Amino acid sequence: MTEKIVYLNDKFLPVEQATISVMDRGFLFGDGVYEVIPVFANKLLRPDEHLSRLQNSLNRIGLSNPFSNEEWQKLFSELLNKNEGDDRAIYLQLSRGAYSKRDLSANKDCAPTVFAMVLQVIPPDIDILSAGISVVTVEDFRWNACDIKSTSLVANVMLKQQAVEAGVEDAILIKDGHVTEGTASNVFVIKEGVFITPPTSHQLLPGITRDLVIEIAENNAIVVEQRQIKEVELFSADEIWMTSSTREIAPVIKLNDKPVGAGVAGSAWKRMMDLYQQYKQELRAM
Ligand code: PDD
Repeated sequence: MTEKIVYLNDKFLPVEQATISVMDRGFLFGDGVYEVIPVFANKLLRPDEHLSRLQNSLNRIGLSNPFSNEEWQKLFSELLNKNEGDDRAIYLQLSRGAYSKRDLSANKDCAPTVFAMVLQVIPPDIDILSAGISVVTVEDFRWNACDIKSTSLVANVMLKQQAVEAGVEDAILIKDGHVTEGTASNVFVIKEGVFITPPTSHQLLPGITRDLVIEIAENNAIVVEQRQIKEVELFSADEIWMTSSTREIAPVIKLNDKPVGAGVAGSAWKRMMDLYQQYKQELRAM
């Protein structure tokens, strides 16, 4: 197997040699942000949108962006060239760096830790995807800043663990009786041909896949409603999907042990999946 090369603080180096200080605030406090950008045949999916979400996360935590978008893109191409693969993803993370003492205040002039690597993501196989996933609803106890793609993911780990312990693939998170998102994805409910997804807010991550699904739907004359979804609406949905960069569009066939709609991947999902795959093919061919 070829060596895995990662980027750390201005250097490209084998993953085994990439080390950071134990005083790094990313390690001590989860004081950092990240992005995951899908790559198809060396073409990044919506790089500008991912970089603009990164900028938003950095602004929200008050950390300056060390690179322009052009510099990030150059870094990504170099990293992709140094690692083999076709369909994969770029993972990038910035932390507020390492201070000499453990101190919550973040007002010191300190260089961020900048890290990027290539993830070997296996694009979801259509047959496996169409088998669907089972999920449970769980109480969303996270903070009111979920629009930040923060590396502080302990709450998401705990919520995902609740799903694992219930013997299902994932959880749909409920706050004050309304759907927010999944543990690492956004949620769509399909009712009588209309695609419904919660509006962006501090309570969920504005998913790039979510926005792409909305855009593709609207370009194909499908009605999309961005509005609050009551928990009870989940139980009368024709279809439910969970969307993310790595999972694409996953149909939920069972919710809290009961079938969703007919209990199989629905016709709206099949149509959307075709349109989404078409979009990817066009990107590959660019
Ligand atoms: N997660 N909501 C949460 C909490 C997420 O972690 C993610 C993605 C999404 C979907 O965003 P996008 O469509 O831009 O991938 C929504 C990534 C894939 C991860 O943490 O690995």
